Amino acid sequence: MSFDRVAESGLSRTVRLVNAMSGARSGIRPTGRSRTFGRDEVIVTKTDLQGRITYANDVFLRVAVYDEHEVIGRPHNIIRHPDMPRAVFGLLWQEIQAGREIFAYVNNLASDGVNYWVFAHVTPTWANGRIVGYHSNRRVPDLGAVHTIEPVYAQLLAEERRHSHPVRAIEASTALLGRVLDDAGVTYDQFVWSLAGASA
Ligand SMILES: Cc1cc2nc3c(=O)[nH]c(=O)nc-3n(C[C@H](O)[C@H](O)[C@H](O)COP(=O)(O)O)c2cc1C
Repeated sequence: MSFDRVAESGLSRTVRLVNAMSGARSGIRPTGRSRTFGRDEVIVTKTDLQGRITYANDVFLRVAVYDEHEVIGRPHNIIRHPDMPRAVFGLLWQEIQAGREIFAYVNNLASDGVNYWVFAHVTPTWANGRIVGYHSNRRVPDLGAVHTIEPVYAQLLAEERRHSHPVRAIEASTALLGRVLDDAGVTYDQFVWSLAGASA
């Protein structure tokens, strides 16, 4: 299926989710400072079907600067960075709700306002043939990958900010992401893996 078709098919469901969850934003101000974590470390969280955190490992708690009791049961957007385009999360939810995995570069915001980039692998968790939750493992991304993705995300965000209505915003930036990939002649997965320096 083409990227555009995939994007359209999951769009309304995604928009509902984005809207439902947008009220839970943290309101933490980014300080402009960044942190990173070890190449041998993995940040792990699990969520329920609504994206509420059900498990967070010690690396997550250290890097995002939370105590466990502060995150369990909270929506995952507590670490949402305002510079992240909605289109990326739209794609993420579309894929995992359809039972597929997705890899994505995500800029996150810790509770102290410090940001940290991750290369995330997000998957559905299955039980008895049904999706019962979601799981994400993140590694530290290459600096070169972050430098490449930052202007792309900035372009998507700028497109979203041209639209006051969240539905129009996510439609427009999703379409823009599709055009960027088409121009580069790659699928989303190929793009992501080319940045990671691995083969698609
Ligand atoms: C397993 C899983 C892991 C997620 N990890 C992150 C994450 O690390 N950072 C993030 O901002 N959103 C993450 N999300 C997406 C959030 O649920 C949410 O869609 C996103 O933060 C956008 O927030 P908004 O709806 O307020 O715009 C994750 C979702 C799932 C299901």
